[in-house]
Amino acid sequence: MSSTPRIDLSTPLKFAYWVPNVSGGLVVSTIEQRTDWSFEYNKKLARIAEHSGFEYALTQTRYAASYGAEKQHEATSFSLALLGATERLKVISAVHPGMWHPGVLAKFMITADHLSNGRAAVNIVSGWLKDEFVNFGLPWLEHDERYVRTEEFIRVLRGLWTEQGYSQDGKYYNINNFTLNPAPVDVPGRAHPEIFFGGNSTAAQATAGRVADWYFSNGKDLEGFSENIAGVTAAAAPAGRRPRFGLNGFVIARESEKEARETLREIVAKAHKPAVEGFREAVQEAGASTKDKKGMWADSTFEDLIQYNDGFKTQLIGTPEQIASRIVEYKKRGVKLFLTCYLHFQEEVEAFGRDILPIVRELEAEAARSAGTELNTDLLPVTALQGVSD
Ligand SMILES: Cc1cc2nc3c(=O)[nH]c(=O)nc-3n(C[C@H](O)[C@H](O)[C@H](O)COP(=O)(O)O)c2cc1C
Repeated sequence: MSSTPRIDLSTPLKFAYWVPNVSGGLVVSTIEQRTDWSFEYNKKLARIAEHSGFEYALTQTRYAASYGAEKQHEATSFSLALLGATERLKVISAVHPGMWHPGVLAKFMITADHLSNGRAAVNIVSGWLKDEFVNFGLPWLEHDERYVRTEEFIRVLRGLWTEQGYSQDGKYYNINNFTLNPAPVDVPGRAHPEIFFGGNSTAAQATAGRVADWYFSNGKDLEGFSENIAGVTAAAAPAGRRPRFGLNGFVIARESEKEARETLREIVAKAHKPAVEGFREAVQEAGASTKDKKGMWADSTFEDLIQYNDGFKTQLIGTPEQIASRIVEYKKRGVKLFLTCYLHFQEEVEAFGRDILPIVRELEAEAARSAGTELNTDLLPVTALQGVSD
């Protein structure tokens, strides 16, 4: 069954960036990346981002050295520190079911939510790095079975966040008449801390449709994105749900398209081949184990995998004008949130807010008008570059 999401042109797009909390930057290449995984760097980056029109930051979860990321900071503690260093930014921590008990995570996130005045969120990821589980002595479930556990996990989170005396009997989790006090912060328009979800396979799409608030897609071209969200929308429909969609993209904005393309060529020419090949083997084996072979990265080339979330496929590469118009094309297909990454995070997040976002907003206003509606500018995030300090 296929389905299309309802397109809303009046709500402004939202923007997020990947927190570089693992070493090596967001491309597995020896090209210069003026990006650092330290907290000091990330604190300043988060402040720049919230002053530049970004509403969210996504912290990755990685426990072991792998494929160009030799060192990692843990996601939930790092996110909490970033929340403490900012005023408006919502920080999404990636977490693996199987590494956490959902009740412990639910409690942790409620505390994080109170400490940050309602800005805590999670990205539930079902995992691909088998060694992290196996070498911790944890079960590594078969691909689709991981999503059975993920679905139960999310139901527990939501149940404990919204109900008193919550119970759930499942294959993986049994919760008995449990109440978490306090409840999450009461934020208008939000039932509980937002639940993001990352995955690509048919099982991932079906699960996200049933239980996620937001579905994050790896980088995709326009058609690939439409196909991806059709699966999620179809799975969501019987339950009357409408998850929102986020899309990953690696941004290379330069004065000319030629310069931007040249930068991409340099990233590819300087790719760390053994690391990219190792990553390809690990993830494509994971994807090939799905019944229909539609796991994430199933159709990714060597070049795509240099940005390990397929960020080049989205083609946010060129002048600010070109990138802005590409972004709005995706909005017309249902993207509500762009998850972005860069070679030089601090400089380029700031430049994105300064050079690209104003054009995006103009194009969004135009697109809304042509569809007979208005862009709701009351929903735009506050931006101001003054006051960003270390
Ligand atoms: C936006 C996004 C963020 C992700 N972040 C992480 C992460 O931080 N850690 C991780 O181990 N996997 C992460 N993943 C990968 C998922 O855990 C999962 O392995 C992947 O989606 C493959 O699933 P599939 O075969 O069902 O498509 C992420 C995926 C997406 C789309």
